[in-house]
Amino acid sequence: MTDFDLTRVQAQLQHKNPRLILKTALQHFENIAISFSGAEDVVLIDLAVALKKNIQVFCLDTGRLHPQTYRFIEQVRKHYQLEIHCVSPNPAEVEALVREKGLFSFYEDGHQPCCAIRKVAPLKRKLAQLDAWITGQRKDQSLDTRQDLPEVQLDSAFSTPEKTLIKFNPLANWDSAQVWDHIHAYQVPYNPLHEQGFTSIGCEPCTRPVLPNQHEREGRWWWEAGKKECGLHAGNLQSTS
Ligand code: ADX
Ligand code: SF4
Repeated sequence: MTDFDLTRVQAQLQHKNPRLILKTALQHFENIAISFSGAEDVVLIDLAVALKKNIQVFCLDTGRLHPQTYRFIEQVRKHYQLEIHCVSPNPAEVEALVREKGLFSFYEDGHQPCCAIRKVAPLKRKLAQLDAWITGQRKDQSLDTRQDLPEVQLDSAFSTPEKTLIKFNPLANWDSAQVWDHIHAYQVPYNPLHEQGFTSIGCEPCTRPVLPNQHEREGRWWWEAGKKECGLHAGNLQSTS
């Protein structure tokens, strides 16, 4: 990691395909993991297992995912014979939030406080154990916040004074159609919610299907206006605001 030249690798990976970006990530970092949401980012796992045995994969188990997503995570675990680390939030923090504000506070207060406890804090804990991570973000997922998404970046949100964290986004240059072409061509298992009009899938209370021609992000936190990032990828907001 100490000899990782971000600027040089950024230049090398510009406009490149997911496989090459993943391969480069795995060549540079031993202690690296895929962050798997239980949606179409399964493509990352499908590509990565062909490059490396025992690739590390983790999911943020917010406790509020759809039943279909839990079953799908299990299906992926078995299909690829992978260990998937399901990272749970701190129970005391969840209990305090629910005691104080109830189970659906995000509809009144906005999603940030709940995401902070159920997603961001567990992610921070997980990332403290890694040198780099791999996400399934794509430029086409959000014109607001992801259109300038680089293939590799310094994670400004989760790096610490003690440790620089690198973040790879191998699907950055693929659009949704390319992801789905791969899923169909290689018979990759997928979350059945995609057959019910869900495009972008997050937690159950905060995700709904979209209508034809609606953008996928419109199904996430639909009651809120503004730029929709939950804190996992807070750096996206810094670069667009
Ligand atoms: S989010 O920030 O709005 O929730 P999104 O659903 O677009 O993120 O997913 C983008 C990428 O963030 C995923 O491909 C995955 O790498 C990571 N991610 C999102 N949700 C989770 C989750 N629950 N567990 C692990 N990784 C996740
Ligand atoms: Fe909570 Fe919704 Fe955020 Fe999930 S997406 S952590 S339920 S606010």
